[in-house]
Amino acid sequence: MANVVVVGAQWGDEGKGKIVDWLSEQADVVVRFQGGHNAGHTLVIGGNVYKLSLLPSGVVRTGKLSVIGNGVVLDPHALAAEVARLQEQGVAISRENLRVAENATLILSIHRELDALRESGSAGTKIGTTKRGIGPAYEDKVGRRAIRLMDLADLSSLGDKIERLLTHHNALRRGFDLDEFKPEAIYEELASIAPKVLPYMDAVWRLLDEERRAGRRILFEGAQGALLDVDHGTYPFVTSSNTVAGQAATGSGMGPGSVGYVLGIAKAYTTRVGEGPFPTELFDETGELIGHKGKEFGVVTGRKRRCGWFDATLVRQTVRTSGINGIALTKLDILDGFETIRIGVGYKLDGQTIDYFPASQLAQGRVEPIYEEFEGWSGSTAGARSWADLPAQAIKYVRRIEELIGAPVAVLSTSPERDDTILMKNPFEA
Ligand code: IMP
Repeated sequence: MANVVVVGAQWGDEGKGKIVDWLSEQADVVVRFQGGHNAGHTLVIGGNVYKLSLLPSGVVRTGKLSVIGNGVVLDPHALAAEVARLQEQGVAISRENLRVAENATLILSIHRELDALRESGSAGTKIGTTKRGIGPAYEDKVGRRAIRLMDLADLSSLGDKIERLLTHHNALRRGFDLDEFKPEAIYEELASIAPKVLPYMDAVWRLLDEERRAGRRILFEGAQGALLDVDHGTYPFVTSSNTVAGQAATGSGMGPGSVGYVLGIAKAYTTRVGEGPFPTELFDETGELIGHKGKEFGVVTGRKRRCGWFDATLVRQTVRTSGINGIALTKLDILDGFETIRIGVGYKLDGQTIDYFPASQLAQGRVEPIYEEFEGWSGSTAGARSWADLPAQAIKYVRRIEELIGAPVAVLSTSPERDDTILMKNPFEA
C-alpha cells in the first residue's frame, strides 16, 4: 500500500510543513481529513513563501489533486480568501486541482462568535482555542443541525435548516443575554459566498476510490497533533476533532486499509499552545532559550508557545494510538550547544511510578516527570545530511528516543531547509 498519513505526534506545531511538502512532491493526491483553518504552516518553494491554513499542501505544486475531506470543518469565507491569496501569488487553483467534500460541515460566523465568547472568560470555559469556530461547528455536526457544503447548492431549502440551527443557537444566546441571530442574516452570509466555493464541491469518497483504484499515491495530511485528539488527547484541553491516524479513513470516506504507512512527526523537544497539562514544561531560562532558538510562535495566532523537554512517555502513547510506523524527528539543531539535555521517561503519580499518561484531567495535572539526563553536544547538527555529520552525543540522543517511544526515526530534519534532512526510510517506499 503506497499511501501515507502524516500526523503530529505531540501537541501540534511539530514542523509538519517541511515533511508534508517533501512527501507531497511524491504524491498524486493530498487530502486534509480533520480540523479546519485552525492549522497553519508555511511552505517555502523556489524562494516563494506560501502560508496555508485550510488548503492541502499539494495545492502549491502543479499536477497534484488537493482534496478537503468530509472530516474537515470548512469556513467558506476562509476558503475563498485563501484561494484568492494564493491565486494572487500565481498559484493556479480551479476544480482541476481542488475538490471539497459535499458533506463537509460549514463554519459560520455564529460559530466564530460563540468560540470567542467562550474564550472571553465570561462563559468560564477557556481552552485557549484559535477562535476560528472549530469547536462550535463540530458540536453542530454531531448535534445533527449543521449546514453542510451541499446545502449551498439548494438555497430554497436553506431556510428550514437555518431555522433548526437557530433554535439551538438563539436559546444559547438568550442564556448569555445576547441579541438573537436573524435567519435572514445567516441566509445572506451563505448565499453570497456559495458561488465562490460550490465549484469545488464533489463526492470525495467516490473520487478517492477512483484515485486509489488507478494506483495513485495518496498523502493524508493531518493537522494539530495526536495529544489534541478529542478522545485520546489531554481532554478537555484538546481540539474538537480526532487527530489520530485512524481519522484519515473516516474523514475522507476511505476504508482503514487505504491509509498505508503512518508517519508521526515529533519535535526533538516539546511545545504546546493554549491551556492544558504539560508535564515536562520548562519555566526557566532553558525554556526561554528553546523558544527563542526554535522561533516558537504560532503561525495562525502568533501566540508564544510553551516549551519543555522531550516527553517520551507521551510520544510512546501517540505511537500506539495512531499506529505510527516511523517518526520524522524535527528541530534537533535547536538543542545544539546545551550542556545537558533531558528526556521525560515516565511519571510519578501519588508515590507510584507509571509508564503512561493517565486519562483523568486531575491526574494529568498532578504527574511529575521522571527524567533521564544526557550530556549535550558542542558540535552542530544544523544542516546535517547524514549520520556521519552528527556529533556522537546527538546520535545517542536520537537512538534513546527510538528505544523509548518504540518506533524508528525514519526521517531526521536538521534545519528548515528542505535538503537538510537525513532519510532512513521513504514512507512512500516502505
Ligand atoms: P481549536 O482547535 O481552535 O478549538 O483549539 C483547541 C486547542 O487546540 C487549543 O489548545 C489550540 O491552541 C490547539 N490548536 C488548534 N490548532 C492547532 C495547531 O494547528 N497547532 C497547535 N495547536 C493547535
